Amino acid sequence: MAGQFPANFLWGASTSAYQVEGATRTDGRGETTWDRFVRTPGRVTDGGTGDVACDSYHRYEEDIALLTQMGCKAYIFSTAWARVYPEGYGRLNGDGLDYYERFVDALLAAGIAPVLTLYHWDLPQALQARGGWLNRDTISAFTQYADTVSRRLGDRVGRWVTINEPETEVSHGYLTGEHAPGIRNRKTALQVGHHLLVAHGEAVPVLRGNGPGDMQIGVVLDLVPAYPASDRAEDERAAVRQDGVTNRWYLDPIFKGQYPDDLLELYAADAPETQTTDMTKIARPLDFLGINYYTRNVVRDDPAPPLHVAPEPPDGVERGGNGAEIYPEGSYDTLTRVHRDYAPPAIYVTENGVVDNTEPDGTGMAHDRVRLDYLRGHVPQLLRAIGAGVPLRGYFHWSLMDNFEWNFGYTMRFGLAHVDHSSGDRSLKESGHWYTRLIADNEARDV
Ligand code: GCO
Repeated sequence: MAGQFPANFLWGASTSAYQVEGATRTDGRGETTWDRFVRTPGRVTDGGTGDVACDSYHRYEEDIALLTQMGCKAYIFSTAWARVYPEGYGRLNGDGLDYYERFVDALLAAGIAPVLTLYHWDLPQALQARGGWLNRDTISAFTQYADTVSRRLGDRVGRWVTINEPETEVSHGYLTGEHAPGIRNRKTALQVGHHLLVAHGEAVPVLRGNGPGDMQIGVVLDLVPAYPASDRAEDERAAVRQDGVTNRWYLDPIFKGQYPDDLLELYAADAPETQTTDMTKIARPLDFLGINYYTRNVVRDDPAPPLHVAPEPPDGVERGGNGAEIYPEGSYDTLTRVHRDYAPPAIYVTENGVVDNTEPDGTGMAHDRVRLDYLRGHVPQLLRAIGAGVPLRGYFHWSLMDNFEWNFGYTMRFGLAHVDHSSGDRSLKESGHWYTRLIADNEARDV
């Protein structure tokens, strides 16, 4: 689908603190679960850490220069809880808060709207030592952190994300163990997920109280549409179960105030313990939903308990450098489904991207054709969704620049800008120049 985007459509890019900031021991920052996790041998593919990352703590002007060069209207970044409260609660580190104030003011001076994510998985280690998200006390520590940051920045940051992808922290941090804190226990995982959702809900009124009436508050979910591998009824039922695990388990509490019955039945004794007002808090009205879309799941029925679902990756499809299928139609299906079934007042695509490790050529330009094709495929789907009535207000590409890709370290590049991880030098890739023209034209062209 070709055509013009709405005049005020918000084009941007996104990153997160632990993946770009570096300076993990600077100006009073406390230890986080990720600082601890990356030091466990074998946890990170290349042994990489976030100790330096893109050194954005010191080089954020260069990041802002990239955003300005592309004409980005907004930037999603996260604040590191442990920079503000080194132990997670109690002792405030003024240097940390001052840093984020300088950074927000620099974005505003460049005409770029800051979109602040309070939590993108880097839990202060001192809280983890007290049980982390399994301990309900962490919820009140989070609301203290949210209160402090929004008191300082609520007058200047117009869009706030409470928590990024609770489902990924649950699945990777507590089921597969491939992310911090590296636990593998489903009952623990589901209880942690519940506490993350309650923490989100508790933060909403705190943020609202610290900003102007038009402060926009949302949460970000990584939604992966599930498709049956065949038209057999059992495979279609398997796709419904997978959709429940990945998507409805989070969408239903946030927008309907209850967990989906089919999953509660499936989880049985592993289902989370809830307190009386929890679900009401989780379902507090939001101003937007952030959707991270990357790829889809194709699944079949499977005899193996507990979910009786197995992946059935399709043959002959395009894939990114990490093997994820490139399926642009899934973004349209996800956006229209969320609009139909949950009706958020506004939606942003807060992450969308692909692994393309193309390095710069002799001229210094990285011709990242996989990312170019990925963008060419996905951007028209956004316009198609808007045409279908979806209140899509903006798109943020993941990522602004190559950065620390969690347990894959620096082996997977997602950036519109290349980062030389030895010098830290940034330079736009071919995709970054394409994105620049897209933003200038504000138009999708048929590929
Ligand atoms: C997220 C992400 C990012 C990843 C990106 C590529 O917010 O979901 O995990 O932190 O780097 O999605 O995997």
